[in-house]
Amino acid sequence: MKKSDLLHEFHFIFNSPTVPRTFFAPGRINLIGEHTDYNGGHVFPASISFGTYALARKRDDQQLRFYSLNFAHTGIIECDLADLSYNEAHDWANFPKGMIKYMSESGYTISSGMDILFYGNIPNGAGLSSSASIEMVTGALLEGLFDLNIKRLQMIQLGQQVENNYIGVNSGIMDQFAIGKGKKDHAILLNCQTLDYQYAPIQLDDYMIMIINTNKQRTLAGSKYNERRAQCEQALADLQQELSIMSLGDLTKEQFEQYKHLIQDDTNRQRAKHAVYENRRTLEALQQLQQGHVEAFGQLMNESHHSLQQDYEVTGVELDTIVHTAWQQPGVIGARMTGAGFGGCAIAIVEKDQVEHFKHNVNTIYQQIIGYEATFYSASIGDGARELTEGVL
Ligand code: GLA
Repeated sequence: MKKSDLLHEFHFIFNSPTVPRTFFAPGRINLIGEHTDYNGGHVFPASISFGTYALARKRDDQQLRFYSLNFAHTGIIECDLADLSYNEAHDWANFPKGMIKYMSESGYTISSGMDILFYGNIPNGAGLSSSASIEMVTGALLEGLFDLNIKRLQMIQLGQQVENNYIGVNSGIMDQFAIGKGKKDHAILLNCQTLDYQYAPIQLDDYMIMIINTNKQRTLAGSKYNERRAQCEQALADLQQELSIMSLGDLTKEQFEQYKHLIQDDTNRQRAKHAVYENRRTLEALQQLQQGHVEAFGQLMNESHHSLQQDYEVTGVELDTIVHTAWQQPGVIGARMTGAGFGGCAIAIVEKDQVEHFKHNVNTIYQQIIGYEATFYSASIGDGARELTEGVL
């Protein structure tokens, strides 16, 4: 969709003569480090060029009016700045509402109502963080329209709190962080315990990153996500009977093997094993990449998927079919699920010359086994949440 089309929609829907300002927040992929963020480990995500656009203007009253071109059937959703409580009937608009509520409760003055038009080109429910994207684009537009002097890290943390306390999904900080701090052509190695981070250039030369959508819808809140988190917390509590650690991310593989008998429940032990090993793989992956060992990096991605399939059990037949089929294709050096799992997307690093062949083969086999098609996107890594200046869209 072009900027002129979005402007036209804005004027038509809100019947407004004012020219709105335009903001954008990307979606994200995670290269490696899955289900490690809420376990005090490391993640290695990157923001992508797909994302959520928001056109916004201030109003003279206290009304908030939200409209999404992606959910046109819900029409304009309205509420008053004085009542920002969660309302099931407000559907997707609870994400921006939650962000407005949490930013104003943190002392940032939102002095008037707004009209906001959203348009996203991230496939919904694909596990590329469309919800964190809408939270962060809302943060960026509030910062811009009301001249707020807010640190990016605080905006990121408020986004996570919206997800945890307002929406009710116990997610970690990875998505908001990747989207808030994204940098073109770089991934971010983030220590989720200390929030220290570093950018790593992603130069894959003859290779590219493909995103493969299983087209199996997933919703985090309804998934087993919160259950996995609780299982890891129980495993940690068992280990803390003898070890003074703050999180599973504190453990080396060797320490885990030495003390894993402390974890009472077999399933919880399996979950914790994934969290510990995946964290170590993520650190190793950065090193391999920095030394230009793209193939070793791909191998770690494959091991990550195995662990998510067997120990963490968050893949499912759709993701496994994509990833196992991808592994067999020429020119593929690594493939794994990305994000929470339970459907959603996989990523693969594929030799550029082999991409067409890859898409055709994987899709044919996927369709035979699953009964419907997968969708393929090439991922370019873009900047994080920001205002778009003229002509960028
Ligand atoms: C979702 C959550 C993240 C993270 C991933 C799994 O995307 O929002 O915080 O836990 O799942 O790595």
